Amino acid sequence: MPVRAEDVALLDALTPEAERLMEKHLANSKEWFPHEYVPWSQGRDFEPGEEWVPDDEKIPPSVRSALVVNLLTEDNLPYYFRDIERMFGRDGVWGAWVKRWTAEEGRHSIVIRDYLTVTRAVDPVALERDRMAQVATGVVPEPPTAAEGMAYVALQELATRIAHFNTGKLLKDQWGYKVMKRVMTDENFHFLFYRDLVSAALEVDPSALVIAIEAQVRDFEMPGTGIPGFSEHAKAIAKAGIYDMQIHHEQILVPVVLRDWAVESLEGLTPEAEQAREALLSRIERIGRIAAKAAERLARQTDLVSA
Ligand SMILES: [Fe+2]
Ligand SMILES: [Fe+2]
Repeated sequence: MPVRAEDVALLDALTPEAERLMEKHLANSKEWFPHEYVPWSQGRDFEPGEEWVPDDEKIPPSVRSALVVNLLTEDNLPYYFRDIERMFGRDGVWGAWVKRWTAEEGRHSIVIRDYLTVTRAVDPVALERDRMAQVATGVVPEPPTAAEGMAYVALQELATRIAHFNTGKLLKDQWGYKVMKRVMTDENFHFLFYRDLVSAALEVDPSALVIAIEAQVRDFEMPGTGIPGFSEHAKAIAKAGIYDMQIHHEQILVPVVLRDWAVESLEGLTPEAEQAREALLSRIERIGRIAAKAAERLARQTDLVSA
């Protein structure tokens, strides 16, 4: 499928950088095997009388929410593949990246599902029903241009890396921690590819990119919104400190948008892009303020409860 005509010039200008980043990615990412991360000896058959029961669940509900959301998000890979291939096309380094990235992402759902099934950490029937519901509806964010797509996936890969790692830290067993840490390492390499691609795109067309970044920060949503009960899960995940507005501000928007992409110091912007930059900076500032207030409120509630 050809890429959008409006995106051809940007993608052509970025091709040498994409080739460099692809080489760097292949050199840095090491081969690994999902089956080596799963405690198979803890497993047993789910035959009649041995079905999953709520007592099998040894983890707090918030961590279970995070595991379910993290896994179901990985399960929606066919739609991300569709959109990223549409954005980059099938040719040359772009097509090679999309395929390699898809192959790597496929391992994430394999390893997380095997781990959850063997340890009985979540109800496998509910999990499969939620997977069917999600994948059969195929709701995913669909950035309209290559510039917006790059900005979105950079932010999203980093958000996913953070969510996976914070989930792993809350799991009491070493196996679960290792699974999530391994997946997190992959997400980090994906993030670096897209982050550096956006940095290069900012040099090619700073005005288009700042407008794209502003649009994606404004409407940022994690890719799991099609998961049944997503907003309840998201609340539990925020409450457990796995992913919330403060993390989004301090660990994504400030380090990536302000520091790495240095949007404040971009020069030669068109009037429209200047406006977008102003809106972007004040939005980031506002998100920081709201997040800090929410964190203070939560700390006060916790103090009251423990007093
Ligand atoms: Fe992933
Ligand atoms: Fe990823």
